[in-house]
Amino acid sequence: MITIQSVSKSFHKQKVLDDISLTIERGEIFGLLGPSGAGKTTLIRLITGAEKRDSGEIFVDAVSVPDRKVLQRIGFMPQNDALYTDITGFENLRFFGGLFGLHGAVLKEKISECLQLVDLSQDAKKPVSNYSGGMKKRLSLAAALIHSPDVLVLDEPTVGIDPVLRRKIWEEFDRQRNSGKTIIVTTHVMDEIQYCDRAGLIYEGKLIACDTVEQLRKMGKGSVENLFFFTKQGENDL
Ligand SMILES: Nc1ncnc2c1ncn2[C@@H]1O[C@H](COP(=O)(O)OP(=O)(O)OP(=O)(O)O)[C@@H](O)[C@H]1O
Ligand SMILES: [Mg+2]
Repeated sequence: MITIQSVSKSFHKQKVLDDISLTIERGEIFGLLGPSGAGKTTLIRLITGAEKRDSGEIFVDAVSVPDRKVLQRIGFMPQNDALYTDITGFENLRFFGGLFGLHGAVLKEKISECLQLVDLSQDAKKPVSNYSGGMKKRLSLAAALIHSPDVLVLDEPTVGIDPVLRRKIWEEFDRQRNSGKTIIVTTHVMDEIQYCDRAGLIYEGKLIACDTVEQLRKMGKGSVENLFFFTKQGENDL
């Protein structure tokens, strides 16, 4: 579904992504894990076309990105909420739905479905400036789902969300995956990896491992997190 081939990216001579190659299958939840500053957001931004790569190729269904048509099929939730704070949650969703050509009863129905999903139906008429951090995060997720995309690209979707809702949201990702959607999700919350089918571990711009979660656990002697420590250890030994 998504193929990343030898992708590199630098900012001001700092190599942020170094020769990343990986494939994300249709209908899987693929986790991108790594410590802060590892390069997760940069890779996500390259996939969505928000940032330009220096070298390499990225394909979504054999179409090289960025591509306008591909963009229509992607639901993107950025790490920093891209919401309009002076209008209500409902109005935000109406705006984003409109961008994707939804209108009338279909749009209304979709807005109410997405609001319900993220537990914001009661707060839909409040201006977003009055939302808490977690509420903004949830609205941002609803905005990513509004046009029923078949690929979801989610950058730390559960940060600032309480454990109960966090679980509910992951259950929804699970449902989305089971209905054939492909989900790429970044996190540095290690226990969230249990919900992923496969994961790629990024450390200082390099892909240090990419496999099924089960296999990664085995490689990390019981814990995926260990793989980061092993890599760090290896560096210290040099
Ligand atoms: N627009 C930019 N200009 C300059 N440097 C940048 C830019 N975007 C990212 N970087 C640098 O690239 C590196 C990777 O950043 P990135 O945001 O991809 O990390 P991350 O893995 O998403 O981290 P976090 O978990 O904190 O979100 C960092 O060193 C960061 O300072
Ligand atoms: Mg990030």
